[in-house]
Amino acid sequence: MSDSPFIRIHNLKKHFEMGGTTVRALDGVDIDIPAGSFTVVMGPSGSGKSTLLYLLGGLDRPSEGEIEVNGQRLDAMDENQLALFRRKTVGFIFQSFNLIQSMTAQQNVAFPMQFAGVPGKQRESRSLELLERVGLADRSQHKPNELSGGQQQRVAIARSLVNEPALILADEPTGNLDTTSGGSVMQVLSELHQAGRTVLVVTHDPRMTHFASHKIFLLDGQIVSEAEYRSASLE
Ligand SMILES: Nc1ncnc2c1ncn2[C@@H]1O[C@H](COP(=O)(O)OP(=O)(O)OP(=O)(O)O)[C@@H](O)[C@H]1O
Ligand SMILES: [Mg+2]
Repeated sequence: MSDSPFIRIHNLKKHFEMGGTTVRALDGVDIDIPAGSFTVVMGPSGSGKSTLLYLLGGLDRPSEGEIEVNGQRLDAMDENQLALFRRKTVGFIFQSFNLIQSMTAQQNVAFPMQFAGVPGKQRESRSLELLERVGLADRSQHKPNELSGGQQQRVAIARSLVNEPALILADEPTGNLDTTSGGSVMQVLSELHQAGRTVLVVTHDPRMTHFASHKIFLLDGQIVSEAEYRSASLE
């Protein structure tokens, strides 16, 4: 075992040039996150939460700074290496589920395995097993519009687990859900953490902090303390 953290971020910057002005979405962020932690990322709208998650997931590249996940320097990777990193290491969960409406729950989960060259029979058994893991074995033949919001999000979580990613990134996974459905999604994320995965969740839901081993507060693209965050939120 090495002592280096699972995620190491140093002086991370992401700037967007917009018609002559520069938006500093992330403005010099430093974070270390150990393997097997459950980190909740909080901050007001526009503070850079999604930007941070996208960079960690290799969906976008930094303007400046270092970002390392599981010993791999993402800022030094080319597009092919980033694509491989995304496939092997990361499971991404979005607020809007992004399920294919014409496919059943099971087909949605099995779909990404097609690209990985997994044979049909194996896709079938594996997708069922993943649906079981998120408590949806009995809904495998339902299409998204025949599932509740929380169930749809759990299908999306099952799909994100196809390659057994070490890192789970979730961007407001309960943002579109009522309290009960949101609770079931949090429960599943917590179980993934307990099974040894490193989980980062962007959320506005204070209930999620109950599961957290680490908390990160962002304001205007910078990390602040919980106290600074609280006083700024009250303004
Ligand atoms: N592709 C882009 N082009 C230009 N500006 C961008 C782009 N993506 C994000 N931004 C800007 O960067 C800042 C941070 O955006 P980000 O999406 O990370 O915020 P957020 O904390 O996730 O907010 P929310 O809670 O509303 O989802 C915002 O000011 C946003 O307008
Ligand atoms: Mg966001």
